[in-house]
Amino acid sequence: MEVQWVGVESPRLGPPQRAVGVIFLILLGVWSAQALEMSVGKINQLEAVNGSTVLLPCTYASCIGIKNLYFNWQFNNNGTMQKVCESVIKDEGVVPDVTIFRERVEFIGMNNHNNVSILLWNITFEDGGKYTCYGSNPKEKGRNHSAIFTLIVVDELRVVDNTLATMIASAVGGAIALLMGFMLLKNFTLFVLSKLEEKNKECLVTSSGIDNTENGLSGSKADSKPTPKKK
Ligand SMILES: *[C@@H]1O[C@H](CO)[C@@H](O)[C@H](O)[C@H]1NC(C)=O
Ligand SMILES: *[C@@H]1O[C@H](CO)[C@@H](O)[C@H](O)[C@H]1NC(C)=O
Ligand SMILES: *[C@@H]1O[C@H](CO)[C@@H](O)[C@H](O)[C@H]1NC(C)=O
Ligand SMILES: *[C@@H]1O[C@H](CO)[C@@H](O)[C@H](O)[C@H]1NC(C)=O
Ligand SMILES: *[C@@H]1O[C@H](CO)[C@@H](O)[C@H](O)[C@H]1NC(C)=O
Repeated sequence: MEVQWVGVESPRLGPPQRAVGVIFLILLGVWSAQALEMSVGKINQLEAVNGSTVLLPCTYASCIGIKNLYFNWQFNNNGTMQKVCESVIKDEGVVPDVTIFRERVEFIGMNNHNNVSILLWNITFEDGGKYTCYGSNPKEKGRNHSAIFTLIVVDELRVVDNTLATMIASAVGGAIALLMGFMLLKNFTLFVLSKLEEKNKECLVTSSGIDNTENGLSGSKADSKPTPKKK
């Protein structure tokens, strides 16, 4: 990027210049944060069974709006990028005319809510991989941005069942462990409480007793004395 030289700690730059550079960087950071952004959402990965139909999500965002926004989807096939589809969105809310280059692909975003998602019908194992959603906005001096979505195609039962079984097993195991831990803790607490209560009672008895022997001594002697058991 053209900004990198500003951040470089050059010996020729004195503190004032560096401060200016930092401020410039911050301003630029704020500015670029508001520039065009393509997003595939928080979950950028999907595991799907072969033969199913999946949605590859993508939305764009731009604070100053779009005009003739160019976008495409690309599939990274073993290192070579293959265009899946492309189009130009004339204006916000306008349904674009999308050219599709790959079979079993359908454009479903229709540009409502800045949505340029596509649908992949009847996926095969060859469809697994990384899909890039790319956008470039002329209104923002051609600023471009992209986001990557990963599709993992799995064979039906194996993976899904294993993960489910593991999840259930660990959940049940965890619950049992938690329950046992709780019971142990509860018993221990009750035990300590009952001990404390015993001691308190004894202390009370001795302190209110006629002779004024030391509490500790009489307390330890009175240990064998039966006390009401607390449940
Ligand atoms: C998924 O792939 C397996 C193995 O290639 C195949 O036997 C199966 O029919 C496929 N399932 C679907 C729904 O296409
Ligand atoms: C993908 O790359 C691997 C290893 O680089 C190679 O063995 C394989 O043939 C390639 N597949 C295709 C479809 O080009
Ligand atoms: C997907 O598969 C179903 C059933 O095999 C078929 O009817 C449908 O036409 C296929 N869709 C596409 C887009 O290939
Ligand atoms: C995009 O549009 C499709 C089809 O209307 C919908 O299923 C999907 O949830 C939308 N995605 C977002 C992020 O709005
Ligand atoms: C994206 O923008 C950068 C400059 O911001 C430019 O160097 C690059 O070539 C652009 N990429 C594409 C694919 O247009």
